[in-house]
Amino acid sequence: SKLRMFVDELPDMPKVHGFEFVNGVPKSKSLKIGMFKKKWKFHRDIPPTPVFAFGESKHNATVPGPTIEALYGIDTYVTWRNHLPSKHILPWDPTIPTATPSDKKGVPTVVHLHGGIHEPASDGNANSWFTAGFKEKGPNWTQKTYRYRNLQQPGNLWYHDHAMGLTRVNLLAGLIGAYIVRHPDVEAPLGLPMGDEFDRTLVIFDRSFQSDGSIYMNSTGNNPSIHPQWQPEYFGDAIIVNGKAWPRMQVRRRKYRFRIINASNARFFNLSFTNGLRFTHVASDSAYLKRPVITKDFLLGPSEITDVVVDFSKSKSDSVILANDAPYPYPSGDPVNDANGKVMKFVILNYKEFDTSRIPQKLIRYPEPELSSASRTRYIAMYEYTSDIDEPVHLYLNGKPYESPATETPKAGTTEVWNVINLTEDNHPLHIHLGLFVALDQRELVNVDEFETCMMKLNDPIKCQLSKYARGKRTEVPDHEKGWKNVFKMMPGSVTKILVRFAYIHSNISYVFDPTADPGYVYHCHILDHEDNAMMRPLKIIS
Ligand code: C2O
Ligand code: CU
Repeated sequence: SKLRMFVDELPDMPKVHGFEFVNGVPKSKSLKIGMFKKKWKFHRDIPPTPVFAFGESKHNATVPGPTIEALYGIDTYVTWRNHLPSKHILPWDPTIPTATPSDKKGVPTVVHLHGGIHEPASDGNANSWFTAGFKEKGPNWTQKTYRYRNLQQPGNLWYHDHAMGLTRVNLLAGLIGAYIVRHPDVEAPLGLPMGDEFDRTLVIFDRSFQSDGSIYMNSTGNNPSIHPQWQPEYFGDAIIVNGKAWPRMQVRRRKYRFRIINASNARFFNLSFTNGLRFTHVASDSAYLKRPVITKDFLLGPSEITDVVVDFSKSKSDSVILANDAPYPYPSGDPVNDANGKVMKFVILNYKEFDTSRIPQKLIRYPEPELSSASRTRYIAMYEYTSDIDEPVHLYLNGKPYESPATETPKAGTTEVWNVINLTEDNHPLHIHLGLFVALDQRELVNVDEFETCMMKLNDPIKCQLSKYARGKRTEVPDHEKGWKNVFKMMPGSVTKILVRFAYIHSNISYVFDPTADPGYVYHCHILDHEDNAMMRPLKIIS
């Protein structure tokens, strides 16, 4: 049976503050956030769904979890606690490198604050996992309480599970939430829409459900004789926003700010309004843009965040649908259908509102990236290894498994050029922990098969004469993605040049922690099914 769309109201996730005022002065705060198994209503007509949810207690745990609000310069401490049962609610695959407790009981979890700049021991390394009550711990586990410094530029982050080989199923089960760093001194003067009513976070992902309400995930892999369960991409037909399938939101005829997070495993969204209403981008996934950028539609890969202002006073209709038309897998997969081509509906109140918010001409200007400041150039090649039935077996970066020692070892505080060579047919959103980067150039490869054959043999872009092949069509980086980012979409059959800084945008801020400490960081593809098998590599900062 088909589900009715736009019948549930868009929820707002509970807010948790990562600071408190003591005699009018902001002070750091220690939060305890648990992971609980409970049931969640995704839609009026879907029976309650078993999920894993973040919350300060089981009773108030939600999918997505609470939005954590942090204040610039004030540390937030979080003790992430696992209260999950001994068995997972979704099928997983022991043939890919996976966190495994020695008693084979419990669900390994570890939380990463995506986009955060903090010490390695608080970064949620995939091997720093732990089970319920910290009973079993991974080889890199060091501490129960994580410390987030909030010394970075204000903006939008999100927290999510990062356990080795289980990230795709732990996120599918619901272990995600938003985190906002606010810096009122620099943000308030911008005059953007503010406050709980007009500044909203939208966490979007896709899921499929069985008739009993449980999350549907194919339990047989594409390559079952090698990987009994692993699938190269998870896609669901229902589009969920803030925990409800195709919700509706009543809005006033005025400006709203939406911080939009794509928390899907593998789905790209190309979002637009059905009545031509525009988006004004003010920030990307790491930082404010220097100037607002207006778009009719925009592409958001898994884990990317965009921050837009929408002015509903410009709407010619009294309701509008936020729609998606990105093929899946992106870019050469199936076209969207009736279900996954729609996201949510806005119902616009009829009378005109008095709106004092504005979109300034200039936002925040950070130091421009300088190519000449790069201390070294690296090459990162993305490969797909297929079996004789032509199904992927695994995806490696630079032909190396995760366990192989770190080869990317930048010096703390430096800037590097990374040329990312995508030899697959998919677009892969590459995410770098700790680092912030700017996409400079994307160029198609000519005779890509010939180049790939050489790379598969030698795994050396210089010996394989990359410059001879990197002569194809150039694609401009879209204006709203020209700022500092922590994820960028790597086009298939192309080489993308990024300039990465390890790690503050303002080079005059020195580290207040030791980024060279163990267990280091990672970088990976953020299609979670790829990351798990095993499109992830260690990133070791050296002094
Ligand atoms: Cu959003 Cu390594 O993660
Ligand atoms: Cu990928």
